[in-house]
Amino acid sequence: MDKPKVVLGVSGGIAAYKACELLRRLTESGHDVRVVPTESSLHFVGAATWSALSGHPVSTEVWNDVHEVPHVRIGQGADLVVVAPATADMLAKAAHGLADDLLTNTLLTARCPVVFAPAMHTEMWEHPATQENVATLRRRGAVVIEPAVGRLTGVDTGKGRLPDPGEIFEVCRRVLARGPVGPDLAGRHVVISAGGTREPLDPVRYLGNRSSGKQGYALARTAVARGARVTLVEANTGLPDPAGADVLRAGTAVQLREAVLKAAADADVVVMAAAVADFRPAEYATGKIKKKDGQEPAPITLVRNPDILAEVAGERARPGQIVVGFAAETDNVLANGREKLRRKGCDLLVVNEVGERRTFGSEENEAVVLAADGGETQVPYGPKEALADTVWDLVSSRLG
Ligand code: CTP
Repeated sequence: MDKPKVVLGVSGGIAAYKACELLRRLTESGHDVRVVPTESSLHFVGAATWSALSGHPVSTEVWNDVHEVPHVRIGQGADLVVVAPATADMLAKAAHGLADDLLTNTLLTARCPVVFAPAMHTEMWEHPATQENVATLRRRGAVVIEPAVGRLTGVDTGKGRLPDPGEIFEVCRRVLARGPVGPDLAGRHVVISAGGTREPLDPVRYLGNRSSGKQGYALARTAVARGARVTLVEANTGLPDPAGADVLRAGTAVQLREAVLKAAADADVVVMAAAVADFRPAEYATGKIKKKDGQEPAPITLVRNPDILAEVAGERARPGQIVVGFAAETDNVLANGREKLRRKGCDLLVVNEVGERRTFGSEENEAVVLAADGGETQVPYGPKEALADTVWDLVSSRLG
């Protein structure tokens, strides 16, 4: 079988050097990669590097090998185009269909999935011009992954870093694996909660649960590869941020509620994968609770936490918003699941049977997804990303 053909576009940002690592990952995993740098990117990494690492000639403009019509052929023959780093200028050109060099021509002729991994200073990323260009590209079906937060060029820190090349590679791998189906969530905003809340008793103790957050992170990673703008609200997972998602942190149920409701305001989909504590201690001791000799411990009084899923599902922030819940059941799985789906008012409920094999923190999961319209989808024991993709398939068909 022919190797999948990938075009790696490199535009002129300091992060261009990280694209060397992305290129290595792609070639070493059996992809045939053509690198198409912009002229300005050659200030950062020279053509010789790209040529040596890819095993192909490298050109920035359309006037070399004209008889082969490279400005058309390279894009036409690609299974995937990934632009990393994508500068503000490159996003603007792509959004407006400019074609003044080989890379921009390639973007216009490509009919395969296109992934942009932007990298720039925070101000440039947040500028309405850039944001509108990104929204345009997403609406047209491109996968634009959110930049990471961290150290930028010079002394600045903030949002705008190119995600780790290994993570961009994983996004590319997932996008390629979807083949011609393409990024069906492009242009959609999805909000996912993950992890488990901790309800503090005093400055050193809390009531918590054993949720690892892995299923929520799998949902985030797969949604990025399907083109969605992803907001991940994480509670106490300690997991590395998935590339391409906006990550918000929450500790308690009340904080999680605030973050989810805010993000849900313009969301097409809300998935509550977090294990939210149903109760919290009625009182928080500002000083550490001390044991006293000869005294029984004081009982802990609990109060109810808000039910975020029921609230989001009950008052949809947007018409047509899809709301997905999770449930863990030990017995009467389907009957309890159906009852919970109705009670919470969500569109889909992913029901896990909790048992020996299905331990918290594992990489696998098995579930049945119940739908408010009566549907029932069995997902066999397998990787959490497979379950995540089934959830997105069901969501996608409901988004129309
Ligand atoms: N959930 C929520 N807010 C809460 C509690 C739960 O949004 N205060 C959400 C979870 O994120 C999950 C679903 O509701 O999507 C789980 O519902 P829950 O009623 O907590 O089910 P179980 O944990 O299975 O508990 P129980 O069977 O005791 O109701």
